[in-house]
Amino acid sequence: MKPLPPPPALTRRGLVRAAAGLAAAGAALAGKGVAGAAVEPAAAPSAAGDNKAAVEPFWGEHQSGIITPIQNYSYFAALDLDTAKRDELIEMLRVWTATAARLAAGKTAAPLGTDVSTVGADTGEALGLPPARLTLTFGFGPGLFVANGKDRFGLAARRPAALVDLPVFNGDQLIPEKTGGDLSVQACADDPQVAFHAVRQLARLAYPIAKIRWVQAGYTTRPQDGGTPRNLMGLKDGTSNPAVSDPKAMAQLVWVGAEGPNWMRGGSYVVVRRIRVALEHWDRMNIAFQEQTIGRHKYSGAPLGGKGEFDTLNLAANDKDGNPIIPESAHVRLAAAASNGGAQILRRPYSYNDGANFVAERWPPWRQGIEYDAGLLFICYQRDPRTGFIKIFENMSKFDMLNQFVTHTGGGLFACPPGIQPGGFIGQRLFEPG
Ligand code: HEM
Repeated sequence: MKPLPPPPALTRRGLVRAAAGLAAAGAALAGKGVAGAAVEPAAAPSAAGDNKAAVEPFWGEHQSGIITPIQNYSYFAALDLDTAKRDELIEMLRVWTATAARLAAGKTAAPLGTDVSTVGADTGEALGLPPARLTLTFGFGPGLFVANGKDRFGLAARRPAALVDLPVFNGDQLIPEKTGGDLSVQACADDPQVAFHAVRQLARLAYPIAKIRWVQAGYTTRPQDGGTPRNLMGLKDGTSNPAVSDPKAMAQLVWVGAEGPNWMRGGSYVVVRRIRVALEHWDRMNIAFQEQTIGRHKYSGAPLGGKGEFDTLNLAANDKDGNPIIPESAHVRLAAAASNGGAQILRRPYSYNDGANFVAERWPPWRQGIEYDAGLLFICYQRDPRTGFIKIFENMSKFDMLNQFVTHTGGGLFACPPGIQPGGFIGQRLFEPG
C-alpha cells in the first residue's frame, strides 16, 4: 500500500490560509475554489429534557460567558504569543473571531471538505453534539502590551492602568507553568467535549503564532431543585453573588465604563485562580468547625445565625458570651462587601479535579498516602481588579480561616475587551487609532 504523505506542517502562512478559508466559508461558497466540496453539518438536535440545543449569542455589546448564566463545564486556556508582528496577531484575532462565532452556533470550526489528503477543517470530536450554550470569552494579559520590557506590538501605551501585575498574596504558591499568559480563552458549555473542542480548534488555528501555556478544566453541578451548586467542600457556592439579571448592578460592578480606555469600555477584567483544596484535611473536620470556617451552615447554606440560604449576613450579631456569631476570620465575613468598603466581584466558580498524587513523608511517622489535586477554579469578573479581587483578597489572604485548607497554585489576570459586532474582531478598537 502506498504510504500516506505526511501532514503538512502548520506555518504562519497556514494561519493566513485558514483565515482565507473562513472568509470563503462566510461567503457560503460551498465547494467553489477548494479541493472537495465544503460540507456544513447541521448542529445536532439535543436529546429531550435538557437545554443543550440552546445557543448563546456570540455577537453583542459585551462578550458572552461573563454574565451568561453559568454552564456546567469550563475549559480555561492561557496562551503565549510567539510573534513580534502586529499583523500576524491581528490576523489571528480575526480567525479566532470568525471561528468562535461558528463554534458558538454549533458549527464546525470551518466547513468540512471532502478531500481527505488535507488537514481537517475541524478535529471532529464535536460532530453530532449540540451547541450546548457554548460561550468563548477572550482576554489580553499584561504580556500582550509589554513582555521582557519590550513594547512588542506598539501597544504599551494602551495598556489599561487596571491591568496591573497581580501582587504576590500571602500564601501564594503559584506554579509558573500554571500562571500568567498573553491571551486567555474561557470556554464554557453544558457539554465538556464541546468546551474542550472549542479551545482545541482555536489553539490549533493560532499555532505557531500563539501557543498554549496552561489550561484548566472545571465543572459545576446542577442540583435537582435548581438551587445553588455545591463545591467540593460540600458548600453551596455562589449564594451571595451580584445578580447577572440586574443591568444596573452589572454596569456598576462588571463592565468597564468611561474611567477605562476607549477600547475596554463595555469589557471586563477576569481574575482566575487555580486553588487546591486539601480535601483530605477538610474531610476530617467536624461540621461545626467547617461552618465556623466559612461562616455559613453547611447543609442549608444559611449564614450562621440565619435560617434561609438567602438571609442577609448579620455581621454585628453576637452570641450570649459576646462573641461574633459569624467569626472574625470566617470566609464570608472577610469576603463580604461590608468588610471591604463595598467592593464586590462577580464569581463564576467551577470545581476542578485533576486526579491524585502519591505523597510519602521522609520523617516520622513516615506518613504515606494520596493527596487529591482538586479544588476550585475560581473565576471572577469585575470592572477594575484593583477595587475588586485585589481589594477583597488582600485581607482575606492573611486572615481567612479557609486558608488552612487551600493553596493558590496558578492563575492570571486578563483584560476582556467588549463584545463584537459581525464583521469586527476581538479587541479591534485596541488596534485602531484613538
Ligand atoms: C477554594 C477557595 C474558595 C472556596 C471553597 C470558597 C467558597 C465560598 C463559599 C462556600 C461562599 C459562601 C456562599 C456564597 O456566597 O457563594 C463564598 C463566598 C464568597 N467568596 Fe469564596 N471561596 C473560595 C475562595 C474565594 C476567593 C479567593 C475569593 C476572593 C475574593 C472569594 C470571594 C468570595 C466572596 C466575595 C463571597 C461572597 C461573600 C458575601 O458577600 O457573602 N472566595 N465562598
